[in-house]
Amino acid sequence: MTGRLIVLDGIDGCGKSTQLQRLADWLPGSGLMPEGSGLICTREPGGTALGQAVRQLLLHTAADQAPCARAELLLYAADRAQHVDTLIRPALERGDWVLSDRFAGSTLAYQGYGRGLDAALIQQLERIATAGLIPDLTFWLALPVTESIRRRHGLEEDRIEAEGRPFLERVAAGFETLASQRDWCRINADRASMDVTSSLEQVLHQRFA
Ligand code: TMP
Repeated sequence: MTGRLIVLDGIDGCGKSTQLQRLADWLPGSGLMPEGSGLICTREPGGTALGQAVRQLLLHTAADQAPCARAELLLYAADRAQHVDTLIRPALERGDWVLSDRFAGSTLAYQGYGRGLDAALIQQLERIATAGLIPDLTFWLALPVTESIRRRHGLEEDRIEAEGRPFLERVAAGFETLASQRDWCRINADRASMDVTSSLEQVLHQRFA
């Protein structure tokens, strides 16, 4: 595979989606991508048509019909399997670059550290869902929980965002641990968003120029 898979991850409100859009505007003219290669922006959950339906089930079901923790884990894994097989891997095989808003690390952080599901089980599922595909680079946009809550104040929350502060604290601590274990690139997201973009671009230059 000749393309590149670059992932942006972090707790809700860390600015992944804004940064992903900025990188999508910048990358084609950056000189980093080989001539002729395309750029695909995607996200989890919901990067495919099937994934959109799964996203709806995961995030917008009524409280009394919400998936239990194991069902939630399996739905994220199903979304990822479809995403990898039908969108990401074919793109990489064509030589395209893929920017993904979240990937397998989110499951370890949210379902592992947040929900307390067994890490070994999650890793086994990760291998099934990704079929061994590992991102070329994962950015962890690090943001304090207080700032995440402040940024999302007054916005409508999805089912996971509505879990509350202790859950988010566990997820944030999980990201911190995972980032060191998995060699993710930590980016301080608690500053002006253009400064965050500059840091991301700088790292991409260092890694791929
Ligand atoms: P988003 O708001 O970044 O689009 O992500 C949707 C929500 O899904 C977010 O609260 C994090 C959560 N999530 C998990 O709990 N596990 C996962 O594996 C993924 C990809 C997302």
